[in-house]
Amino acid sequence: MKSFFLPAARLGLIPPYLFKEIDDKKVEVKARGVDIIDLGVGDPDLPTPQFIVEKMQEAVQDPKTHRYPAYSGMTFFREAVARWYQRRFGVELDPESEVLTLIGSKEGIAHLPLGINNPEDINLMTSPGYPVYQMGTLFAGGYCHFLPLLRENNFLPDLEHLSPLIARDARAMFFNYPNNPTAAVADKGFFARVVEFCREHEIVAVHDAAYTELAFEGFQPPSLLEVAGAKEVGIEFHSLSKTYNMTGWRLGMAVGNREVLSALGKIKSNIDSGAFDAIQLAGIAALDSDQSCVRENCAIFQERRDLLVGGLKKLGYDVDFPKATFYVWLAVPRGLTSMGFTTHLLEQAGIVTIPGNGLGQAGEGYVRLALTVPKERLEEALARLARLS
Ligand SMILES: Cc1ncc(COP(=O)(O)O)c(C=O)c1O
Repeated sequence: MKSFFLPAARLGLIPPYLFKEIDDKKVEVKARGVDIIDLGVGDPDLPTPQFIVEKMQEAVQDPKTHRYPAYSGMTFFREAVARWYQRRFGVELDPESEVLTLIGSKEGIAHLPLGINNPEDINLMTSPGYPVYQMGTLFAGGYCHFLPLLRENNFLPDLEHLSPLIARDARAMFFNYPNNPTAAVADKGFFARVVEFCREHEIVAVHDAAYTELAFEGFQPPSLLEVAGAKEVGIEFHSLSKTYNMTGWRLGMAVGNREVLSALGKIKSNIDSGAFDAIQLAGIAALDSDQSCVRENCAIFQERRDLLVGGLKKLGYDVDFPKATFYVWLAVPRGLTSMGFTTHLLEQAGIVTIPGNGLGQAGEGYVRLALTVPKERLEEALARLARLS
């Protein structure tokens, strides 16, 4: 029978889902009784620190938290974000106008284009990249122009060689360091060049800083806002998800340029009703803590990184030790595609990875592995890879 229902044409803008084949294969391999090692998901396996959970338990008992939250977030939470930015990056923020609470940073990233783009605007974004930059832009009627992240440029976009016509017409630029999926990091010099470029071309600089706290060997990734003048052209998205193993809680923030944040806030106030106050109170406890839980987390991921990347190198794979993030960006062996290698690893070793081309065309030639499983599973994965080799 012919259905009465046709979804909105907008949904036709969603690019083909490249992981379908992999998903089907995963089901097939599992059905054969293979013990799958899933290195695909970027979701920490470690629990939220106990003191944050306890703060939530206490907060949820208070009926005052049961009512509608303030649209732009609790003043106390926004003040805690400002204190944290000051302590961590030396960046001053006005909690009233330069901090906006989000229901996870994905929510803010997806809604931002509705507040800053007109139909047919061009947004610049990296390839490979977090897919929400593209989807948010497309849903707002905009066009995406991809900036390839290539190894020879240390996985940083090459702004110098961008067509002047594209630069002239671009409205926003999305970028993310430490980077998902390449695990590349950026220094303040790169951020300064981005700010200059965005100022020259009147582009909104949108930095997604979800992974700044997940870094190794004492490295402290910078914030875009550490650059003088950054607040005049840019905002930064941040999140408690990866820093405190709180992916399921849904709490993030956007900080920086007040006009851009006001536009995002206007969209949000007509769509959602803010983050649950009890979660924001737990978030304050996290941000105001001595951050020892973050250091402990990084130590665990560093140990896993050393084990996996060290092991992969010994097996002859082309891979670098990442300085930050819980991702490993592995070049596929010569003669194979990202998809071919992903399928091979799944079928022959029961290991799930993400094909780089699924995160953008320029990701072809790589697969992403996530360090979100215990050491014993990584050891098992290496043992299986050794048998393959
Ligand atoms: C680069 C990047 N940005 C943003 C997010 C969204 O995080 P959340 O919505 O949990 O804050 C993710 C999640 O995986 C991510 O990888």
